[in-house]
Amino acid sequence: MCGIVGYIGGQQAAPLLLEGLTRLEHRGYDSAGLAVLGSSGIKVAKQAGRVRDLGDGLPKRFGGKIGIGHTRWATHGPANDVNAHPHTDEAGRVAVVHNGIIDNAAALRAELSGAGVELASDTDTEVLAHLIARSGAKTLEARTAEALSRVEGTYGIAVTHADFPDRIVVARNGSPLIIGVGDHEMHVASDLAAVVRYTTTVAHLDDGEMATVTAGGFKTWRIDASGLSATDRRAKEVDIDPEAYDAGDHESFMHKEMLEQPARAEAVLRGRLDDKFGTGHLGGLNLDARELRAIKRVKILGCGSAYYVGQMGASLIEELARIPADAEAASEFRYRNPIVEPDTLYVAVSQSGETIDTLLAVQEIQRKGGFVIGLVNVVGSAIAREVDGGIYLHAGPEVAVASTKALTNMYLAFAMLAVQLGRVRDLSIADGRRLIAGLNAIPGQIDQVLAAEPELAVVAKSLAEAESLFFIGRVRGFPVAREGAQKFKEISYRHAEAYQTSELKHGPLALISTAVPTVAIVPDDELVERNVAALHEIAARGGPLTVVTHAGVDLGDLAGKVERIDVPKNERELDPILLTIPLQVLAYHAALSLGHDIDKPRNLAKSVTVE
Ligand code: F6R
Repeated sequence: MCGIVGYIGGQQAAPLLLEGLTRLEHRGYDSAGLAVLGSSGIKVAKQAGRVRDLGDGLPKRFGGKIGIGHTRWATHGPANDVNAHPHTDEAGRVAVVHNGIIDNAAALRAELSGAGVELASDTDTEVLAHLIARSGAKTLEARTAEALSRVEGTYGIAVTHADFPDRIVVARNGSPLIIGVGDHEMHVASDLAAVVRYTTTVAHLDDGEMATVTAGGFKTWRIDASGLSATDRRAKEVDIDPEAYDAGDHESFMHKEMLEQPARAEAVLRGRLDDKFGTGHLGGLNLDARELRAIKRVKILGCGSAYYVGQMGASLIEELARIPADAEAASEFRYRNPIVEPDTLYVAVSQSGETIDTLLAVQEIQRKGGFVIGLVNVVGSAIAREVDGGIYLHAGPEVAVASTKALTNMYLAFAMLAVQLGRVRDLSIADGRRLIAGLNAIPGQIDQVLAAEPELAVVAKSLAEAESLFFIGRVRGFPVAREGAQKFKEISYRHAEAYQTSELKHGPLALISTAVPTVAIVPDDELVERNVAALHEIAARGGPLTVVTHAGVDLGDLAGKVERIDVPKNERELDPILLTIPLQVLAYHAALSLGHDIDKPRNLAKSVTVE
């Protein structure tokens, strides 16, 4: 959320900053801007809208080999030109870009105004530029540390100063910041996406760390009460293919990422399935069989779609391991003074590994002495670094705001965890083998679902015509419905509400009409008859139906009167993920038919790093 880039080296900074910003635009697209330090001081260009709106002629007007840039997801102040970053002091000698929230901004703004400073914007960030400019400390590092010592909240920042034209100073507290090491040039960014084209040698700053970045290298510091003390953070090679950050021939990243699912599903399963003993090999959990056996409860924490997949995971764990398990929105967890128990396994689920609500839940658990593992996609991310063990998702970079392949891999990671937990309890070797065979079949079955994209596109187009829709399911199917509704509303902007099928008649049936379609999840399982009965109740009220089901399900006299989407059958415990895939495709094609910018849905951004 919000993207930061910076460059210092032998090349002109502006074109590199613009390229980096374009690659980070999924982190925020309310406004964009950059500041370049050249022979005549700092020049700033910034405005509401997209990076492309900054203008083609900009690099020519902005000579200079040091610069910083920003794409914004608005928190304080509307998305207009003045609130766009970078922010500067009154003399225009300091420029700052910031990701995060300064909680005491109002008090600092009042203090600065009282001292005669004219604030140009409504943002929290601007105070940093003034505080740095007003510091009497000798170095830019000390001035920045002094300013940061006044600030409560979270930040990833990059600072340039006309009086210190050989460096960029960056600092991190709660919002990611990396330094990419090039050949006599350095890049800074909030995300690998902005630097991998130039270098894969990267250092990740820790919370409370600052770095001095010059063309020749970087030095890191810990910011503490007594000032700055040197740390010896080193850059490391990251194993990443820069092509993974390109959409290639696809019209959007979401489309590319949906179609990558069979291959990425194979990647998360690879080397982790034991066909012989019907169990999972999840070495990263850091738990032996005895410790796994001692777990009495599982609590899963995630946000948005990761929370819904967490619900699928909880039902897998209860079913296969017979351990009480539930999922909770990580954003609520820490505010209810949760009871953290020593024999509970806490599981934090996050694609980005940066979602602040999930990270703060992890910290609350650890503060209370709990053991927490992570199901995380981004290697080396904050959550991945803080947890006590975990399962990397191996989904590859996910750029589209609407998550697809990472969620599929979260589900598969939960399935492996559930089998492993089950096998140290009462899950038999035969059942373990049955489930491992089922897991091995999933990548190919996802491929089969995706092959139906043209037919799904037709159904999606008609669903997109409705202003309001229901997504319904029960037990294993309910989180599928929740995720389906989430994906649909996120990118089509249609009101899509998920409900337990069983609860419909207790209220929401009043909303069913010919104008309100329902997408029903009807797996071929022990609830099929009850589910089909509910379909009749909807049809009797004229509600149009799309039924996501299995070939064996008999819809009786509804056959031919509803849209039917059959997915391949797996073991019933593993069906949810295959039922989820067509819902992604429906959401995607609904949004496409409405002409929306699929990768950048309005008001949203990838990786929510603010509360
Ligand atoms: C939905 C979506 C969001 C994220 C949520 C958590 O498609 O992308 O709901 O799932 O913000 O993000 P991570 O998984 O990065 O913690």
